[in-house]
Amino acid sequence: MKSIGVGLIGSGFMGKCHAIAWSGVKPVFGDVPAPRLVQLADVNADLARQKAEEFGFSSSTADWRDLLRNDEIDIISITSPNEFHAEMAIAAMEAGKHVWCEKPMAPSEADAELMLEAARKSGRVALLGYNYIQNPAIRFIRKFLEDGAIGTPYQTRIEMDEDFMADPDTPFFWKHARTSGYGALDDFAVHPLSLIRTLFGGISEVFCAMGKPYADRRTGDGSRRAVETYDFATMLMRLENGMQGTIEVNRSAWGRKGRIFLQIFGSKGMIVYDQERMNEVEVYQATGPANEQGFKKVLMSPHHPPYEKFVPAPGHQLGFNDLKIIECRELLKLVNGEPANAITFEDGLQIEKTIHAAARAFEAGHWKKVD
Ligand SMILES: NC(=O)c1ccc[n+]([C@@H]2O[C@H](COP(=O)([O-])OP(=O)(O)OC[C@H]3O[C@@H](n4cnc5c(N)ncnc54)[C@H](O)[C@@H]3O)[C@@H](O)[C@H]2O)c1
Repeated sequence: MKSIGVGLIGSGFMGKCHAIAWSGVKPVFGDVPAPRLVQLADVNADLARQKAEEFGFSSSTADWRDLLRNDEIDIISITSPNEFHAEMAIAAMEAGKHVWCEKPMAPSEADAELMLEAARKSGRVALLGYNYIQNPAIRFIRKFLEDGAIGTPYQTRIEMDEDFMADPDTPFFWKHARTSGYGALDDFAVHPLSLIRTLFGGISEVFCAMGKPYADRRTGDGSRRAVETYDFATMLMRLENGMQGTIEVNRSAWGRKGRIFLQIFGSKGMIVYDQERMNEVEVYQATGPANEQGFKKVLMSPHHPPYEKFVPAPGHQLGFNDLKIIECRELLKLVNGEPANAITFEDGLQIEKTIHAAARAFEAGHWKKVD
């Protein structure tokens, strides 16, 4: 595998996560050449320079298009707000670069389709930032299901809640604007959908309700601006494999910090997982004497790959940024032509189609098929 030159667009929350992943993938996995952190782009030159210095990039620019012209760059991490993903990803692939783009693909379904078309045409790797599927706990759950440990799964329920928008005094920012998408669907529901896709496959039909707790928010100049996105949503789903499912998401859920609460019900038991306790999986198997049955908690350890790449001791726990390092390793497998555990633009478009079908179902007031 040859050394990869990296360009990064955006240096906010996820920009830093990508930078940590690019710096961590070699020391953690060992079997890859150290990526070269070539150039960082952000909206103003001072911010870009400061973040490039902090993250370890050799140069910086205020114009993300400079990355397209830089021959040292093989792959571009896109961590800008949703409305820029399509333009940046398509331009990057047309310039011959691989792309690691944050979720969701794009606010509009048509743009997401163009992104996939550009990926197919360019033959470049195009991966989406669906880090939660990379948790060793989720790999364990997938294997556990494949082994029939809870019999035939027939229903799954996932709740994703955070409270970063719970305070009505939080000012209006880009996630409140329609240009970012529908809101809770693009921002949150896509993550549970990535888990469902990884564990069970596609969705055939959806029904959906959405809402917003606050009609408007204050802006920088002291005026108030109407909130254009929905901050909570409920989806009912029929899966292609015959299962049923629900997803409930809320960005204004006081007290919830990073909850992705997954339950899977089967004919012989059930599985429980919560991202707020991301190193644990609870399993219930209806076997043995009835008076001894109960939940068992499995703590992640070197027996749950690739946990062992981070730390040789059980129970020492991985964190959010470690999932991004694992995602980066999967991305490098794809670049090297190897199979990988990843949500590419192909899979990602199916997730996008599901949220657009959900939004249409909300408007129509009845179930909609996912194309
Ligand atoms: N995978 C995950 O778990 C996860 C978590 C949070 C956010 N995200 C996604 O990451 C993306 C970014 O979210 P965030 O929370 O990091 O946002 P953020 O506001 O913290 O950061 C966005 C960055 O992009 C920069 N930017 C804006 N326009 C730009 C342009 N034209 N050129 C270059 N840089 C530009 C901003 O200056 C900022 O540095 C979103 O698409 C979001 O959905 C994913």
